[in-house]
This record gives sequence, structure tokens and C-alpha cells, in this order.
Amino acid sequence: MSKTATLVINGEKYDFPVVEGTENEIAIDIKTLRTSTGGVTTLDPGYKNTGSCESAITFLNGEKGILRYRGYAIEELAEKADFLEVAYLLIFGELPDAEELAKFHSDIKEHSHVDEDVKKILDGFPKSAHPMGVLSSLTSALIAFNPSSVNVDSPEEMYLAIVRMMGKFPVLTAWAHRKRAGLPLDYGDNTLGYVDNFLKMMFKKPDGEYNSNPILVEALDKLLILHADHEQNCSTSTVRIVGSSHAGLFASLSAGISALWGPLHGGANQAVIEMLEAIKEDGGDTKKYMAKAKDKSDPFRLMGFGHRVYKNFDPRARIIKASADDVLQDLGIDDPVLDIAKGLEREALEDSYFVNRKLYPNVDFYSGIIYRAMGIPVEMFTAMFALGRLPGWIAQWREMRLRKEPIGRPRQIYIGETHRPFKDIEYR
Ligand code: SDX
Repeated sequence: MSKTATLVINGEKYDFPVVEGTENEIAIDIKTLRTSTGGVTTLDPGYKNTGSCESAITFLNGEKGILRYRGYAIEELAEKADFLEVAYLLIFGELPDAEELAKFHSDIKEHSHVDEDVKKILDGFPKSAHPMGVLSSLTSALIAFNPSSVNVDSPEEMYLAIVRMMGKFPVLTAWAHRKRAGLPLDYGDNTLGYVDNFLKMMFKKPDGEYNSNPILVEALDKLLILHADHEQNCSTSTVRIVGSSHAGLFASLSAGISALWGPLHGGANQAVIEMLEAIKEDGGDTKKYMAKAKDKSDPFRLMGFGHRVYKNFDPRARIIKASADDVLQDLGIDDPVLDIAKGLEREALEDSYFVNRKLYPNVDFYSGIIYRAMGIPVEMFTAMFALGRLPGWIAQWREMRLRKEPIGRPRQIYIGETHRPFKDIEYR
């Protein structure tokens, strides 16, 4: 592999180093492009061809449908690890031993209290507020209650900010649900495991006992692992760029939550169920919705299909599809929407429009079916994605800070008016 790339601009040759990663990905290092060419930049809307950083956290190969966290295959982690182990792996780089895992969980539990005054902020929201808007606001509000977690320069301050967020975010997520459901806001039961405790915070009725359901705990644990990180996706890139100004972990995460909310990103899991429900109401007419998805004059897209990177099956979709079958069977639920989803997938995978564009089901296509079977309201689906993605966002933010990455500040190509004199109002 040549170690340099040569660019010819107006007859001038410019050499740039070629960098190669541990998975043999190569990139042209253009750090000196503007200075060496007198101001030439690159143009790449949506950064489809642009690497923003070097990272050691997650590797994915979109053509082969490969996803690994710190070198471990997602299939193995989903099968053999639990969510806190994976969170530790993503954030600190290695799978924890029993003592490290116990301390991580103990530190998280110790910092899981959310100040009672945060409930007053939540009180200000209407019941109809979307949970993602509530979560982004409350995550940012936590800054005021944890000022020492804003400028985290020492490893100790950074660790404290991390375990505070890992402890408090599930509480905020459960509160966002309970606010909409008109249920009292309470705290978790730290005698339970991380995911079991979250489910108890979500579903415990004021007057009733909460009985853990191992099927739901295992299913949610797996879903959170599958959502935990995905290299430089839209919301992770948002967390990194906000963090690059040293705005602190909580502010960076609040921005990431807002980015994830979009229906083209994490909001797709909610949009998928709404789409499948519409198809069901329409008598299961999948062909009508396939036609809409292919009609360029129609803004409708087949939600849960396609991906910026995966041009093959999203490995997470495969695992979630299998898990959906198991969970519904274990719970004795027959959800016609699952059959519609499978029918839609079959049709799309045989349709040249989707095949030619390499559009396959992504992580969001089946996840909502499991969330629904668990009794999680559809408006909470994207919040569940955020709960899973939290350790990935934290890991990426920590890596960016430890590598002392520069503040993110892309350039542009200006296409507006050239210089012109001011025009007094009477002459406009
Ligand atoms: C996530 O990046 C990540 O890693 C994200 C994520 C993560 O874990 O963080 O994996 C999570 O966000 C998954 C994606 C969830 N979004 C959806 O399911 C929404 C539906 N999908 C699309 O909107 C779309 O596929 C994107 C946004 C996911 C990807 O869009 P791209 O890469 O910008 O692709 P594109 O819009 O350029 O589409 C290429 C072609 C276009 O047609 P042509 O102009 O070539 O004729 O494919 C078409 C698009 O119109 N197309 C679709 C489609 N997705 C792409 N047509 C119909 N239905 C779709 N879903």
C-alpha cells in the first residue's frame, strides 16, 4: 500500500500521507491540505466519505455486516455478556474481571440518586412532552446539580462524571415514562441488577409489588448491548463535537440525545412501529407502502430500512429479529405486526429498488416489536435507544478528551452573494 496520496490541483502536485488502521482501512490524512494548497478544502455533505477521528472503540464493516466493540464480535457479546460488562468494555477498553465489575456497579449505584429538585423541573413539562425532549433537558439540568462533573480534567473527576451519568440516566428515563403515565416518580432498588432495577423503576405500580421477569430482563439487556455503540453515527459525532469545546460530559450527552431523536436516526424505531400499525390498519397492504417508499414524489421512506454504512444486513437486526420471536413466544404474545414486518422484509429483499440500493433492515426495524411486547409505550422507544447508547457516547467522549482532540470546526464552500454595498431602505 502506497504511504502517500498525490493530489493534482491546477497542475500542481501535492502529496499527503495515507494512514492505515488495524483493520486495514486506509484514509488520506489531509490535515495540511489548506496550508499546503493555499486554501483548498474538501466538500463532503453528511461526511459520507470523511473520517472525523481515529478511534479504538468500535469497528464496523458495512459491506460484510461486521460489528465489534473493542475487538469482540457483537454476536458473542449479545450472547455471553451483560450490559454493564459491555458498558465497562466500551468505556475502559477491556472486559472487567469480577472485582472490577462489582466496583463499577457499586459506584454507579452509589451515584444513582437524582436530586429531588429535578422533579420540579419535570413538573414543568406537560404530560404530552416527548420523552426525548424531557431527557435532553433533564440531562442538561443535571449539570446544575453536579457542578464538579462539568470540567472533568483529572481521571478521578472523569470517572465520577461517568458513574454519575450511568447511575442517574436510567432514573431520568423511567421518570420520563412515569410522568406521561401519571405515575409517582420514585427511585430504584439498588439490590437489583442494573437492567432489572430499571424495569422496576419503569413499571412498579404505587400500590403493588414488582415481580422481576427474567425473560424481560434478559431481552432488554440484550437490546441495550446491541444499541451500545456504533462508531461515528450522527448522535455520537454530536457528542464528540460538543465535547470538543470542553462543554463537559452532561452537556455533550444532552446534545447527543437531541440528535438521536430524529426519525432518520434513533427516532426510526418509533416510526417503524407507527408505520407497521398503519399498514395493519390498512388491511396489511404492504405493497402500497412499498410503492410509496419507491415513489420519489412521496417523502415516505420504509422506516427501519437502509443505513449509511451497512450495505448488507445490519448484524444487530438479525439478532433482534431472532430475539423478537423468542420473547413473543416466551410471553405467549401473538403480535400481527411482527408478521407484517417479516412480510415487508421478504418483499423488500426481493425488490430491485431495495436490492440495487442495498437497503436492508437496520437495528430499528424489529426492536420496537420487543419493546412493545415488554409493555414499553411507543413514545419511549427512542429513549430506550438512548439508554443503550449511553455507554457508547460516554466512551467516545472520553476517548476524544483523552486523545486531546482539537475543537471540531468544519470549513465550507461559500455560495452566497459576493461583496455588495449597503442599500438604504428607500432604495430596496
Ligand atoms: C440508525 O449511522 C448509524 O450508525 C446509525 C445507527 C446507530 O446505531 O447509531 O445505526 C442507528 O440511525 C439506523 C437508521 C435508522 N433510520 C431509518 O431507518 C430511516 C429510514 N432510512 C433512511 O432514511 C436512510 O436509509 C438512512 C438515513 C438510514 C441512510 O441514508 P443515506 O445513507 O443518506 O442514504 P440516502 O438517503 O443517500 O439513500 C440512498 C438511496 C436514495 O435513493 P436514490 O436517490 O439513490 O434513488 O436509497 C434510498 C434513497 O431515497 N433510500 C430509501 C430508504 N433509505 C434510503 N428509500 C426508501 N426507504 C428507505 N428507508
